[in-house]
Amino acid sequence: MNIRIDTDKTGIAERDIEAMRPEAGKALDRLWSGKEEMTGWVRLPAGGYGDSLEYILNLADVVKSEAELFVVVGIGGSYLGARAAIEALPKYESGIPVKFLGNNLCTDYFREAIEEIKRKKTILCVISKSGSTVEVRTAFEIVKPLLADRYGSEEEAAKRIIAITDAEKGALREEAELKGYTSLSIPEDIGGRYSVLTPAGLLPMAVSGIDIRTLLAGAAEMAESPEWDGSLADYAISRYLLQKRGKEVEFIELCHSRLGYLGEWIRQLFGESEGKGGGGLLPTTLTFSTDLHSMGQYLQQGRQIFMETMLVVDEPSIQIVVPSGPQEGKTIAEISEAMIKGVIGAHRAEGIPIVEIHMDRLDAGEYGQLLYFLETTCAISAMLSGINPFDQPGVENYKAEMHRLLD
Ligand code: PA5
Repeated sequence: MNIRIDTDKTGIAERDIEAMRPEAGKALDRLWSGKEEMTGWVRLPAGGYGDSLEYILNLADVVKSEAELFVVVGIGGSYLGARAAIEALPKYESGIPVKFLGNNLCTDYFREAIEEIKRKKTILCVISKSGSTVEVRTAFEIVKPLLADRYGSEEEAAKRIIAITDAEKGALREEAELKGYTSLSIPEDIGGRYSVLTPAGLLPMAVSGIDIRTLLAGAAEMAESPEWDGSLADYAISRYLLQKRGKEVEFIELCHSRLGYLGEWIRQLFGESEGKGGGGLLPTTLTFSTDLHSMGQYLQQGRQIFMETMLVVDEPSIQIVVPSGPQEGKTIAEISEAMIKGVIGAHRAEGIPIVEIHMDRLDAGEYGQLLYFLETTCAISAMLSGINPFDQPGVENYKAEMHRLLD
């Protein structure tokens, strides 16, 4: 396993973490029992994808050979996982650009996207589990006629639309059947924020050129790791214990410039899973070292209501040596290591609890491990707190109110 957890700098005694491991184990057993609702994601990577993985890879090949641009319309769990992976991971040269739409209601953003779609051979992929999210429907309805204009008719446009939605329910499924769109399914027992390893995440990743086979192999390795009986659950336990000891906020600190959107995905995963009934750590993300020069002061001397989680990629993809000046002869990696150690030293001096998560390198296999690790961590820590990690009544409330106003 390439993901390592260090809870030595949390201020939590080792015996307190060990005492919680049986409880974490029970939560894990519940996740694997097949009896809990919305836990289809747990067995997915290790269970194998069979024909459906071949189908996704073949479809991605068709898209790459026929289009210059892949427009993915989706929001929340139907968007962030794919975007985060595409920002983070290396790609085969055969990949094509992926543009995301439907994740905001900004007119200027739409205008720019419309111009680009008009200029390029485009295939459109609409992703929505419910099939009725307003932002997504809005973008979908705007792009469809652009394709019809370019390709001469609605029928020709329909050949260039892929729908990823529930297998049976919802307006998008109905439309896909009626218009004959190519379609894939998000399993019924997997919610949006746990759907990154379903077609919702995998197809856009594959089109962009990410090696999804290796990514899934990494996720399967993490799912089956015997270390869940040991240190892998310690991050979940630390989050739970630190919250019980009064911490209200978690700063998730991404020590790599390509992990910014992973931070967005983590915020949704943790925020929607745990932010219920007045509870949950408030998840917020920072990118280091950039944000040390904006938030560093607050971290060091502001209200001590938070814990920190540092996500560190240990091995750089290449070594770059500083040619001159005060750091002459040092590599960027060495300077970065000094930054991380400096932060840890200074913040520990204030008593701030810090969890470290280390991965060796940012590649598809380790990223797959990381995704599955974070999903499971989130589910375990919510279950330790007695929170259902798999519903999102608050999101539904706003959607219902928005529908009412628009109707
Ligand atoms: O986690 C969730 O369920 C939500 O954030 C959804 O992913 C988001 O609202 C998009 O919903 P849908 O896929 O139904 O369009």
